[in-house]
Amino acid sequence: MSPGDANGSQQTQAEPRVAVSDGDLAREAREVLDANWMGHATRASARLYPHQWSWDSACIAIGYAGWNQERAQAELRWLFAGQWADGLLPHIRFADNARYFPGPEFWQTHRSPSAPEHPQTSGIVQPPVHATAVWQVYRHARDGDEGKRFLRELLPGLVAWHEYLYRERNRGEDGLVEIWHPWESGMDNSPLWDEALARISPAREAIPDYQRVDLDFVEAAQRPTDAEYDRYAYLVKLYRDLGYDAGRIRAECPFVVYDVLFNSLLVQSNRDLAKIARVLDVDPEPFETWADRTAAGIDAKLWDETEGSYGDYDVRGRARVRAHTAAAFSPLFAGIPTENRARLMLERLMASAVTIDGLGRVVASVAPSDANFDPALYWRGPVWPMINWVVHAGLRRYRFTAEAGEIRAALLELVRREGFWEHYNAKTGRGQGTEQVSWTAALVLDLLNGERDDGGRAHEQT
Ligand code: SER
Repeated sequence: MSPGDANGSQQTQAEPRVAVSDGDLAREAREVLDANWMGHATRASARLYPHQWSWDSACIAIGYAGWNQERAQAELRWLFAGQWADGLLPHIRFADNARYFPGPEFWQTHRSPSAPEHPQTSGIVQPPVHATAVWQVYRHARDGDEGKRFLRELLPGLVAWHEYLYRERNRGEDGLVEIWHPWESGMDNSPLWDEALARISPAREAIPDYQRVDLDFVEAAQRPTDAEYDRYAYLVKLYRDLGYDAGRIRAECPFVVYDVLFNSLLVQSNRDLAKIARVLDVDPEPFETWADRTAAGIDAKLWDETEGSYGDYDVRGRARVRAHTAAAFSPLFAGIPTENRARLMLERLMASAVTIDGLGRVVASVAPSDANFDPALYWRGPVWPMINWVVHAGLRRYRFTAEAGEIRAALLELVRREGFWEHYNAKTGRGQGTEQVSWTAALVLDLLNGERDDGGRAHEQT
């Protein structure tokens, strides 16, 4: 397998590979990133995702950090060059002439006075891992002055991004920020959105014309349904009809969710923003305050005592979301739960983890006990490296060292066997979706790199 033969389809997948050493795995990961490097940033994957994606990119920068500082910095700079005047950090910065739906002509972001004329971007956001990425890049900088220059350069964009979230995506006193589209969660067709999407039944004529491209590259059994795409497209049309006016979307949007993964990543990003501020002799207090408020909101509103777990909240439906997903464990990543809650979560996590033939346990995107679990279907069951990376870091943070080690080893083994896929079948371990995926490669590099900065437990921080 070489990085060149990017291969989006299950039918042409090679047989599992023989064992490769950590050194070989790291070399292969770097080859994937080299192949997807566009000269200024990294496409998420060669064929299915030929643009720069926001949270992919943050993870990609984390993978570059220990290996290629120049690229790590360029990656984030390029992404932030697409930031809107109101601070919105778009979920896609488009490359020129690449085949993808929905492209710039569908987003029509020129309808917003805040969107840049150039570059072209989408008009929604993705989970905020960026301050965490910037901090990780700085930590690996060999030249401290140069590292500080990078922090100084990125700080205003990061602050504007978080300000946007707290200004436009926060409707209460509880510090939680909301998402307005399943794509904003990064977990497009998760069962988390089933009920909220079921309430949206647009008339045929309210759904804009569109042509899916994803099914040219990946079999339909591993992608969202047409009914889901109809709703995705309908919501985009609604936002563009509203001129991407955040106030109007907040009032009229039928899809409004407090997502636990999004908010947990935001808490950690705020903590990392505070660290960045300290290095630059800037007041860290506002960022710690954001982190504390959102962490308190997660604890108050998203913790479900009867389930012994965190979960999402459907603002329009005024109800907890009942799906059992791996995202429920993400508060560990940000040091949010108490020791007691963390222990409950650990039990649940290890009980819902999947054991893949000889590899040990990894976390599936949806618990196998959930009625909606499908081992092959995108965010409805498969094993995603990014989520396992989050869980692994969370377990380490709480000193659940053996369990963290088990997940790390099994995930690396999965990639060693199969290659750098988008996700892996939660029963067979076979690589699925699209191949030569940049953030899979980047996070493998980070895991191989060993020690991460866990930042200290939240309650241990001053
Ligand atoms: N993840 C979406 C897709 O599959 C877009 O963000 O195209």
